[in-house]
Amino acid sequence: MTNVAPIKTARLILRQWKPEDVPQFVAMNEDPEVMKYFPGGLSPQQSEGWAENCRQMLERQGWGLWAVEVQSTGEFIGFVGLHAPTIDLPFNPCVEIGWRLKSSAWGKGFATEAARACIDYGFSVMGLTEIVSFTSVVNTPSSAVMERLAMTRDPATFEHPSVPPGHVLREHCVYRISASDWLLTKP
Ligand SMILES: CC(C)(COP(=O)(O)OP(=O)(O)OC[C@H]1O[C@@H](n2cnc3c(N)ncnc32)[C@H](O)[C@@H]1OP(=O)(O)O)[C@@H](O)C(=O)NCCC(=O)NCCS
Repeated sequence: MTNVAPIKTARLILRQWKPEDVPQFVAMNEDPEVMKYFPGGLSPQQSEGWAENCRQMLERQGWGLWAVEVQSTGEFIGFVGLHAPTIDLPFNPCVEIGWRLKSSAWGKGFATEAARACIDYGFSVMGLTEIVSFTSVVNTPSSAVMERLAMTRDPATFEHPSVPPGHVLREHCVYRISASDWLLTKP
């Protein structure tokens, strides 16, 4: 697959990554506000690798972590998308939804708007029966997105295997939504 069909929402385009996104992605991952709930920052080389992995995954699968652009300005603001985690999680196999936006793009409803389009894609195009999302229990901005999406929080939390034991970010909560619930609740 070479052409990744862009997904349009009212204000955004979810699309394949472009080379000009990468320096902005590097800068975004150097912003301590953006990386507040991650155990370590990302070096420019790691960010470049991330962007290239996202690009390749979209090209290979047609779905993944889409680059998000604001339609009215053409600005790249980060990524939102779907991912099948390969790390050892208590609820694997699964498809998760995730997001990371520039801090200048927060507080505008962009993450939720983009995520709704990704969930629609996951259920209607990919035929998934469930989508999960997980975050550190202290990352309340991220769990607020999950709640705006009408995802339901599991009663139990889990220890993220990639975060060192004892670290404040190790305890994670999991949210999920089924295809049938999405059809009932989507606006
Ligand atoms: C998680 C993250 C994407 C959430 O961003 P966010 O801006 O809080 O979430 P949304 O884009 O859904 O925006 C919702 C906010 O926009 C406001 N808003 C303003 N205009 C709006 C509009 N037209 N439509 C909808 N909401 C609007 C909402 O009221 C809400 O504000 P509130 O939080 O004060 O209630 C962001 O904090 C981030 O990128 N963090 C760093 C990366 C990260 O932690 N990722 C998650 C790892 S698990």
